[in-house]
Amino acid sequence: MSTFLHISASSRTANSHSRRLGQRASERIRAAHPALKLCRRDLAQPFLPHPDEAFVEASLRPPLDRDANDRAALALSESLIAELEVSDLLVIDFPMYNFALPSSLKAWLDLVLRPNRTFRVTAKGKIGVLADRPAICIMAAGGRFDGPQAQPDFATPHLRHALQTIGIASSRFFIADRAGRAERQETDRDFDRWIGGLLTAVGPGPAPHRQSLPSSEPR
Ligand SMILES: Cc1cc2nc3c(=O)[nH]c(=O)nc-3n(C[C@H](O)[C@H](O)[C@H](O)COP(=O)(O)O)c2cc1C
Repeated sequence: MSTFLHISASSRTANSHSRRLGQRASERIRAAHPALKLCRRDLAQPFLPHPDEAFVEASLRPPLDRDANDRAALALSESLIAELEVSDLLVIDFPMYNFALPSSLKAWLDLVLRPNRTFRVTAKGKIGVLADRPAICIMAAGGRFDGPQAQPDFATPHLRHALQTIGIASSRFFIADRAGRAERQETDRDFDRWIGGLLTAVGPGPAPHRQSLPSSEPR
């Protein structure tokens, strides 16, 4: 059965804008593709560990040289990668914290991007090992990215590049800026239009398996 992996990263739950939009996306996807099995990964409940010494040493050791301790140190990383490997579609919702990704999502990336596992290091740079699949990425931010108060965005380029590094090139981003302000209804309307366009592009069919998203960024 095809699987859809929904990842959430906000430290907030009930009042989280990114989770609210991620949930909206999830409902639309499940309505469009009822055969997709949902796999849920919450990166804030509980938080993932940082990469510790045992993990780093084990991940750098050639697989045939690893012992039981190394395998134990890599077990969580392996299960997160396995969730990715079987997914045909990803939704990742997250907040901007200090112009960047929240550490919950960074910890996931640190556990999932592994040399000689999810990417290979070649003379031409890092080459992803995983099959491409659509990744719908939704970021909530309290501030704005245009006008006199414009702030830099180190979050979406980072996530886009990290996904591409492991082979997931078909990522699309929706930025819900000024989250929590009066513009919420307008944001929701824009979001519904955006997600509707993406779902039309990856359907119809039993599952959006390895199809690409359209190349233009609607927002
Ligand atoms: C620790 C922290 C740092 C933040 N840094 C930024 C920031 O750099 N830029 C911004 O626009 N909003 C920033 N915010 C606001 C959040 O992005 C905003 O509240 C967003 O709605 C959080 O996502 P959530 O509603 O899904 O929890 C920050 C919030 C927190 C808690």
